[in-house]
Amino acid sequence: MVWTAAFLMIFVLCAGSEDYCYDEPHCDPYAWGDSFPLCHPLLEHHHSPINLDQHMIRNDSLGPLQLEGFDEIQTGHWTLENDGHSVVLQVGSGMEVSGGGLPDVYYTVQLHFHWGGPATNGSEHTVDRRRYPMEMHIVNMKSIHPNMSAALDDPTGLAVLGFLVDVVYADNVHFGHISQKLSSVAYKGQTTKVKPFPLLSLLPKHNMSQYYRYYGSLTTPPCSQAVVWTLFEVPIYISWSQLAQFTSQIFSTKEDAEQVTPLQNNFRHIHPTFSRTVTASRDAKLLTGTAGQPPRLAASVLLLQIVLCGGFTFKL
Ligand SMILES: *[C@@H]1O[C@H](CO)[C@@H](O)[C@H](O)[C@H]1NC(C)=O
Ligand SMILES: *[C@@H]1O[C@H](CO)[C@@H](O)[C@H](O)[C@H]1NC(C)=O
Ligand SMILES: *[C@@H]1O[C@H](CO)[C@@H](O)[C@H](O)[C@H]1NC(C)=O
Ligand SMILES: *[C@@H]1O[C@H](CO)[C@@H](O)[C@H](O)[C@H]1NC(C)=O
Ligand SMILES: [Zn+2]
Repeated sequence: MVWTAAFLMIFVLCAGSEDYCYDEPHCDPYAWGDSFPLCHPLLEHHHSPINLDQHMIRNDSLGPLQLEGFDEIQTGHWTLENDGHSVVLQVGSGMEVSGGGLPDVYYTVQLHFHWGGPATNGSEHTVDRRRYPMEMHIVNMKSIHPNMSAALDDPTGLAVLGFLVDVVYADNVHFGHISQKLSSVAYKGQTTKVKPFPLLSLLPKHNMSQYYRYYGSLTTPPCSQAVVWTLFEVPIYISWSQLAQFTSQIFSTKEDAEQVTPLQNNFRHIHPTFSRTVTASRDAKLLTGTAGQPPRLAASVLLLQIVLCGGFTFKL
């Protein structure tokens, strides 16, 4: 009896350690470090997301990126999936990203989204503390790596292109390629085929040479510090109703779950930049807003919290 209970407990603990969430204290982003050690926000660790402010240095050699195959219609089909944490579009092979100061050629693997709720914004990166309604991530893997786990062991193994998403009244017809398919992946584990379309049509038409660059981590477990981040300055615009399809019609639970839970606020909290520099591309219009907290002060507040809380389970 005792043994059964012990085994059951180990089983529950192990099962619990494999998944993460955004909405319950035992598995939310502040608790990820308990199950995924790399997610601990230790001093001088390079985590994402961050707040982008005017503490940036321009680098005139950061010109436009090369987006190979983004303007073509790829063969085969793509797959849209609700993995319980986001909606992910697996885009197969045929596209690659290079230039713009990236250390290598990167193959495009997938794109996915982070959003808020019906009344809250949910971008991961903030700009002068402003959180945008949504953020899109295009994930690219360094071409020398045979698989994702090898890329996650390389400090520049992934190049993620981040796009802030803002809201206007008019529908974005290109975004319809994805938003029209969302009802087929409302529940966790559901997948649907998507006819390939030129990925470039999702991106801002102009000003793609205006971006910010820094070195950080995955914003989901295992939080590997393996990402060269490129955040584009000009947002993508979609309509309120297209946004609402994400915030109220996607669920983090399976279709047959007793209680259905909407997938909302699937963003990780902001992390300190510490000694990192964020660089602005040659064409970026540097931020002009009010100053955020100086990095040194942020670091000492964090240190104080570690001392006062006696551990790393504090909340920033
Ligand atoms: C500017 O970017 C280039 C290309 O990535 C890099 O080689 C160089 O070190 C950067 N310069 C500074 C001052 O960061
Ligand atoms: C949320 O997004 C809206 C639309 O872009 C913006 O007007 C508002 O300032 C944002 N709110 C916060 C708290 O950043
Ligand atoms: C990933 O690639 C590395 C390096 O070649 C290899 O050692 C490892 O076994 C591969 N892992 C998987 C899961 O295929
Ligand atoms: C886009 O680029 C043009 C030309 O450089 C510039 O005039 C305009 O201000 C830029 N737009 C934004 C939103 O940064
Ligand atoms: Zn992401």
